[in-house]
Amino acid sequence: MSTTPAVSSVIQPRKKVTTRAFQMKKARGERITMLTAYDYPTALALDSAGIDAILVGDSLGMVVLGYQNTLPVTMEDMLHHCKAVARGAQTALLIGDMPFMSYQVSVAEAVRNAGRFLQEAGMDAVKLEGGRERLEAVRAIVSAGIPVMGHLGLTPQSVHQLGGFRPQGRTAAAARRLLEDARLLEEAGCFSLVLESLPARLAAYISRQLAIPTIGIGAGAGCDGQVLVTHDLLGLFQRFTPGFVKQYANLYPAMQEAFTSYIEEVKEGVFPATEHTTEMSDDEWEAFLQSNESESA
Ligand code: KIV
Repeated sequence: MSTTPAVSSVIQPRKKVTTRAFQMKKARGERITMLTAYDYPTALALDSAGIDAILVGDSLGMVVLGYQNTLPVTMEDMLHHCKAVARGAQTALLIGDMPFMSYQVSVAEAVRNAGRFLQEAGMDAVKLEGGRERLEAVRAIVSAGIPVMGHLGLTPQSVHQLGGFRPQGRTAAAARRLLEDARLLEEAGCFSLVLESLPARLAAYISRQLAIPTIGIGAGAGCDGQVLVTHDLLGLFQRFTPGFVKQYANLYPAMQEAFTSYIEEVKEGVFPATEHTTEMSDDEWEAFLQSNESESA
């Protein structure tokens, strides 16, 4: 009997996902999957689950660092977490989110900061928020050879200007402006666009108008792909959960239960048990006691 496995049963390693693969998926009508990660174990789990893209989102400011919004997140915070994610993910397209004030002040600063995500932190692309007001920065970053993902609709770095985390594009004029912005970002060279908190029919319409793929969050099923904040999907972020989130697990109570059991077992002397403990031979122990006794005599 042959010991060689049938060709169909050999697991092929996944090919690295590129921005070109994003385009091809849209052309073939295949939906793109993206989730956020901020650390090594999550990146490892997402990559081995077969995710297309991992976004190291500045949402880390809220779900990991405990800020009220994303505005306090710095370049150093982002690079630190991007490096951890890059060590965990071999295959997914890795996108680093440019934090507030890292691309708004000048085009030169935007290019320099975008470059740091690739050069220092192992990312494949960057994401930045905004429409027509960001075209110069997008063009310059793209001409430096750095792929850019745009982000329109509810752009959390403009939370104060938007008057809160609220859905966007709900009037004809706002919808028209968003469509124009999407077209301008595509022309400026973005390889993909996040559409956040938009009416589903508007997001679907914009997606059909563009050649580049759209990735929706709270924007309905008509986008070319979907993204969620992983802590929301896992039920790890307790402060609030946006209405568009589907929770696929509820890990926060499971985590609390594990911590409570640990505390009780340590207090009661139940943990560590024998199987969690290492031992030395009786001979070595006797030798140790004798040497110690003769030393202190
Ligand atoms: O920061 C983030 O996680 C994001 C996604 C919500 C798209 O920008």
